Amino acid sequence: MIVVTGATGKLGRAIVEDLLQRLPANEVVASVRDADKAKGLAARGVDVRTGDFADAGGLRKAFAGAGQVLIVSADKLGEEALQLHRTAINTAQDVGVHRILYTSHMGARPASPFLPADQHAGTEADLAASGLTYTSLRHGFYAESCLQMIGDSLRTGDL
Ligand SMILES: NC(=O)c1ccc[n+]([C@@H]2O[C@H](COP(=O)([O-])OP(=O)(O)OC[C@H]3O[C@@H](n4cnc5c(N)ncnc54)[C@H](OP(=O)(O)O)[C@@H]3O)[C@@H](O)[C@H]2O)c1
Repeated sequence: MIVVTGATGKLGRAIVEDLLQRLPANEVVASVRDADKAKGLAARGVDVRTGDFADAGGLRKAFAGAGQVLIVSADKLGEEALQLHRTAINTAQDVGVHRILYTSHMGARPASPFLPADQHAGTEADLAASGLTYTSLRHGFYAESCLQMIGDSLRTGDL
């Protein structure tokens, strides 16, 4: 059984949809902060559990029985994100998962001038230190972030 965190977000939801094409619904668990936002998944037989990286006790219940956990990185930066992801890794380890998957970023490395790359490198170091089997999914740069960064240029025509 695989637990997918962030299943009410854009990426997590798409991943759950994809898994449902490949696995029976009872093999997929959606870990969400607000179960009301995942009613549609529950109606389709997905086990929707409440889990927040900021609450290790609750997260333990969300991860219980998982063979694999996909940690979709939280939409935070810096030390806060590192701590949230650390809690998720430690909880996965506590409940005995055999593999963690984590959404990292291309170019992840310590001291990168690109803050998310430095931060994801920190979580990759935590994954390595856990001793668990893990897969770091080093995503490319989401085009939607680019739109946020160049928003004014789209209006003015100057970049
Ligand atoms: N590679 C890139 O260029 C790039 C660009 C943007 C983002 N990202 C990363 O990719 C992730 C997924 O992207 P997305 O588009 O799916 O973002 P999104 O739609 O904002 O989804 C983020 C998900 O993270 C959940 N979350 C936030 N804080 C949490 C916590 N403390 N505990 C558990 N879950 C928490 C949110 O839950 P709620 O639904 O309850 O809010 C939401 O489901 C982002 O969170 C970010 O880390 C990467």
